[in-house]
Amino acid sequence: MQPIGTSGILPLAGARVVWRLGFAIVLLALALISSDFLQAVYNKYHRLDPAAYTMFWTRRGWLWTHLAGGALTIILGPIQFLTQWPRSLPQLHRWTGRIYLTGMLVACVGATGLIANSPAPFAIRAAFAATALVWLTTALSGLTAIRGGRARSHRRWMLRNYIVTLSPITFRALLEVPGLIALPPSPAMIAILLWSSWLLPLLISEAIYRIIDRAGLRPSGSFKPAPLSGAA
Ligand code: HEM
Repeated sequence: MQPIGTSGILPLAGARVVWRLGFAIVLLALALISSDFLQAVYNKYHRLDPAAYTMFWTRRGWLWTHLAGGALTIILGPIQFLTQWPRSLPQLHRWTGRIYLTGMLVACVGATGLIANSPAPFAIRAAFAATALVWLTTALSGLTAIRGGRARSHRRWMLRNYIVTLSPITFRALLEVPGLIALPPSPAMIAILLWSSWLLPLLISEAIYRIIDRAGLRPSGSFKPAPLSGAA
């Protein structure tokens, strides 16, 4: 099958409009879900109340570090995906990208402190550590790709990275799945949900990518790498 957008099955301009509309809907849904999550976090932790902090009270310094960096990544992620389009904004993309990566590193420092001082069973701490590792490695792969001028690979790795960024939101959503709500939240169950919170969306996104690539549904020429001149 010839790719849509290059073959005349769907004119290039039409394919781009459909592509961008779908992208805008996904981003809008993401913005709503993310702001709901961040609002819930703010409501829970904005007052210095040991009752609200529960087991995090003695680790609140690590938690604040973690939350500050984590909130930054959730907010800046969509900006990164938006600024890849109007290629007139490569500087904004670069700077928000640097702040995003810094936020991720800060959140990882907080996560390391939380894990090291956590009373949770090993399975849960291991699941968090694995998440942090995947978060860092996907970012490193994305960074290496763009430094090597491989813009398409960069986009894919950063999408994977953002999927991991969203894992606490996915985790919260998984807890609401009707069949799971009824089960007692054992350490094993929490560990499985932590792994699933990024593994499942990653697998789904890889499957969607494959379908799009095989069917040639990506409108060609819509995403060209921004010129690298000026990149530090
Ligand atoms: C993707 C990599 C992430 C890792 C590895 C990670 C790791 C952790 C760890 C280890 C804890 C402490 C758990 C415990 O001691 O029981 C924690 C808690 C928390 N993290 Fe993350 N986290 C990640 C991303 C994020 C992001 C992006 C946010 C967004 C703000 C976030 C928000 C939270 C919150 C709100 C808590 C407290 C949970 C609660 O209230 O029950 N995390 N995280």
